[in-house]
Amino acid sequence: MPAVDGRPYSPGLEGVLAGETSIALVDGQNGRLLYRGYPIVELVRNSTYAQVAELLWTGEWPSEAHLPTAPLSGAVLTALRALPNESSPMDALRTAVSAWGASARLSWPPTPDQARDVTALAPSALAAFARLRQGLEPVDPDPDLELAAGFLYQLTGETPDEASARALDAYFIVGAEHGFNASTFTARVITSTRSDLASAVAGAIGALKGPLHGGAPSEVVSQLHEIGSVEHAERWMRDAIARGERLMGFGHRVYRAYDPRAAALREVAEGMAGMADWLKMAVAVEDIALRLFEELKPDRVIKTNVEYYAAAVLQGVGLPPDLFPSTFALARHAGWTAHCMEQAGANRLIRPDVRYVGPPERPLPGVAAAV
Ligand code: COA
Repeated sequence: MPAVDGRPYSPGLEGVLAGETSIALVDGQNGRLLYRGYPIVELVRNSTYAQVAELLWTGEWPSEAHLPTAPLSGAVLTALRALPNESSPMDALRTAVSAWGASARLSWPPTPDQARDVTALAPSALAAFARLRQGLEPVDPDPDLELAAGFLYQLTGETPDEASARALDAYFIVGAEHGFNASTFTARVITSTRSDLASAVAGAIGALKGPLHGGAPSEVVSQLHEIGSVEHAERWMRDAIARGERLMGFGHRVYRAYDPRAAALREVAEGMAGMADWLKMAVAVEDIALRLFEELKPDRVIKTNVEYYAAAVLQGVGLPPDLFPSTFALARHAGWTAHCMEQAGANRLIRPDVRYVGPPERPLPGVAAAV
């Protein structure tokens, strides 16, 4: 890390330890992701998002948990109805969380109940916006359904089949938490000022909206459409790499091994009815891509990342691609809010220094320098 005036300096804070956490371990070198010590693949196979969220919030493993979507208050619905139809779903979600915070009178420090409330409200708000922009009325929550299933129900007005509900729940587990990424760090910075949970989550949604963070599983879908068939895949990908383009759904800043989230979601996608043809092609294209990376980029480990199979799951449950990033945000609510509580529990205002590179002290034009 370069030093300036004897102090370490890292633009983007890359490589800087900026805190401690006991929520998740992201081990990029070995392709491991643990939530409070439990491997992500085990959690996806054997638990629900409601259990995982409780685990992240409290540190305790609940043998049972139920987290249905929550009804929207008048303030949130009024705010959503006032938005133009062409607003981005991320903007709508951020607006809903903000409107909720304005009437919820949240105390500091943040609590598990506050975390449950905002995590349960967010899917209802996103589903309501998705319907309002189509000229449809919002659907009230079904209190018997878990969060992911409840979200699908409120989007379509129909109870989802078991396989779709399970697949989206698994996607929510995989997206729940991932260390000190930009949106989580944003939430912690806001919490560190003793601001409230709604402000922290609204700020985190704003950070996740940026294309460098929010990811783009929808681009994986368009890439597979462009490739068209397995027979064309090798030629298409060789040409793309030769032009210096990126294959979507491959490579990662942290993981130097197969992304464990991709492995977990691949299993889920393979179990989904109605995905067979699309998935068969995705698996075949993945194999060809991995072989090409070994041949063409031998010095770099480039493996499948989470977006590749996230695309399969999200497409498989019938979500429109423009809801992919905001659906990821719904899943991440558990992680954001767990980090807010952890930050508040051992709070230190996050306030780094900055190196001044502007002009030296000088008088205002036309004003004599002070003596
Ligand atoms: N397709 C083709 N080449 C890739 C690649 C991909 N998906 N990912 C990395 N590379 C290559 C780069 O071209 C570069 O090669 P070069 O040294 O010959 O120029 C080398 O690997 C290093 O690239 P760099 O951008 O420094 O790696 P990174 O680890 O910082 O990149 C990503 C991480 C995610 C930005 C990058 O892998 C990427 O753009 N992936 C595609 C988009 C995607 O799937 N995003 C979702 C991430 S969860």
